[in-house]
Amino acid sequence: MAVELYKDAHHCCVMFTDLVSDETEAVQANQFLIVDHGEGVILDPGGNMTYNELNLTMRKYIAPQHLDYILASHADPDIIASLDRWMTSTQAKLLISKLWARFAPHFCKIGKTEDRIIPIPDEGGKLRFGKTDLWLLPAHFLHAEGNFQFYDPVSKILFSGDLGVSMLSGQEARQPITSLTPMPHGMEAFHRRYMVSNKILKLWVRMVRGLEISMIVPQHGAPLQGAAIGQLLDWLDNLSCGIDLMGTPQYQLPQIDL
Ligand SMILES: [Fe+2]
Ligand SMILES: [Fe+2]
Repeated sequence: MAVELYKDAHHCCVMFTDLVSDETEAVQANQFLIVDHGEGVILDPGGNMTYNELNLTMRKYIAPQHLDYILASHADPDIIASLDRWMTSTQAKLLISKLWARFAPHFCKIGKTEDRIIPIPDEGGKLRFGKTDLWLLPAHFLHAEGNFQFYDPVSKILFSGDLGVSMLSGQEARQPITSLTPMPHGMEAFHRRYMVSNKILKLWVRMVRGLEISMIVPQHGAPLQGAAIGQLLDWLDNLSCGIDLMGTPQYQLPQIDL
């Protein structure tokens, strides 16, 4: 079921939390639709498990010909593996980091992406759609080398991709979290291994402190709201992760049989 994170007469932000069945071995993932004055963009549409339902539900908000863009925070399978089907059923263009622009066509049949992939430069930018601009914020190495987050200045929601995630069920992910005490399930372990380094986290925290944020909405788990927003920024600012924690013990010739 779709969750409307924000809605006014001309603009809405819709989240889908339960299109990947909890019964499968696949990680829970969120997908997003933003509509402004009848034009739409989809953020991180996911893989084949989410395509049918997302495509159907999207039609309650916009006609497929009004889906202007598909935005991918990075190139992981849970982000964009359904690209071939979206390229077939809509005329939308894909925006993805310039680092992945020539890799993403590998998800598609030959010719499907011709003139339909817009590489995002490292410094990001503002994307016009409807009567608004969506901000494409640099979030490189959080966790992919070429990585973007999306800020909607109307709702003031920061769609943070794989940053700020927790490991919850599709049902649990519908409910915003307002405090990080206690820490949501899986949040600490995920960030310690998937995020690259504290240097990068500090750069990101410094950048987003300049934004007015109503909600941080990650691609896995529940949205963060109220006190949880400041708590997340403070926690990440001081978190050791990724290469900060790697050393000789992690780089040994293998000893165990799989
Ligand atoms: Fe990812
Ligand atoms: Fe992810």
